[in-house]
Amino acid sequence: MTAQEPKNDGVDLNDPKLSRFDVFREGLRRDGIEILHYEPRYSKPGTKDEKRMERIVGFLFLLAGLFSLAFLAAYIWWPWEYGDGAGGWGDPSRSYTTVIGVCFGLALLFFALAVLTWAKKLLPVEELVQERHDGPSDPEDRKIAEATVDTIVDDIGVKRRPFLKKAALVGAAPLGVAAIAPLGGLIKDPGDMLTVTGWNPEEASKPEHVEDAGNFEGRKYVRLMMRDGKLVRPDMVSTGGQITVYPGYEHGASNKEALAPTLLIHLREEDAEQLRENLYPMYEQVKVETGNGEKEMPAMFGNFVAYSKICTHVGCPASLYEQQSQRLLCPCHQSQFDVVDNAAPVFGPATRHLPMLPIAVDEEGYLIATSDFLVPPGPAFWNRPSLPEGWEE
Ligand code: FES
Repeated sequence: MTAQEPKNDGVDLNDPKLSRFDVFREGLRRDGIEILHYEPRYSKPGTKDEKRMERIVGFLFLLAGLFSLAFLAAYIWWPWEYGDGAGGWGDPSRSYTTVIGVCFGLALLFFALAVLTWAKKLLPVEELVQERHDGPSDPEDRKIAEATVDTIVDDIGVKRRPFLKKAALVGAAPLGVAAIAPLGGLIKDPGDMLTVTGWNPEEASKPEHVEDAGNFEGRKYVRLMMRDGKLVRPDMVSTGGQITVYPGYEHGASNKEALAPTLLIHLREEDAEQLRENLYPMYEQVKVETGNGEKEMPAMFGNFVAYSKICTHVGCPASLYEQQSQRLLCPCHQSQFDVVDNAAPVFGPATRHLPMLPIAVDEEGYLIATSDFLVPPGPAFWNRPSLPEGWEE
């Protein structure tokens, strides 16, 4: 087809001499769209150039399919749990996120390039001007719509380009599966992975951790440790200061204990007093298993309080502590938590408190966690309890 002039006078759609393109153009005209220029990209269908472009587009679709399959394979088989490499560079679990991210990103990129190349290099060259107007559809409009869709399908060339049709399917099918594959992660029961952290006193009695644990009333507890491995005593945090602490054993400050990072704050006397007044009963009387049986203790130690550092919105570190306003800020989406009111969310998208870690001091003067968090730290998930068992709202 050669370039065609716009036709602006009305036509009878029942005229059998009308070609489909005439109906298509008439439809556009009735919608206030004028075809200024319309010309197939290649003067003759099936030229060498067109075939070459088809192969390029097909190749891009195949690459998209290939990277989608690579994503699926990595998603299912790449080791992702904290491994024997213990987080070193040789540990493949370190690259899990990177590998699935790069594979899926490349799959989307090649799919988009294929669609764009098809549109830019194979579809007809056209120039349209449109005037917008209102109006209900009538049977003639529907006939026009049919002719329009058929013409577009013809323009795209799906019928006469079977190779591209197959390549697009081969590329799109794995991409579609890759897009829904992450739902597969919901199939496996996560067990207690989301509710039990490295602060659990059970950890302290494990053979590999028992040497690092602190003794308190005849039982072992996990000590608080800084990132460099130094154990924490109360005199190491000045009044009004705060530090990040991790479970005090090997790999306690690594991704192995990703839910454990905690902010230890040494409150000023007046602020600590205010928090004590506001303290929830569950934090005033934490049930602690000691060597001499169960006893109740406050979650605070003196003027010290420890809150989970994992924002309850989507898990960024909420660690900007404003001493004057007693707010903890999360830099990701500006959630704010009230330090002197049990870390209640007071601004931003987070809707849950930051859980408080019950703390005390062991026989050697080091800070210990006397219990795991009473409610699971981190972002919300289905069935997440908002209060520990036995406490009613
Ligand atoms: S992750 Fe903290 S506000 Fe969104």
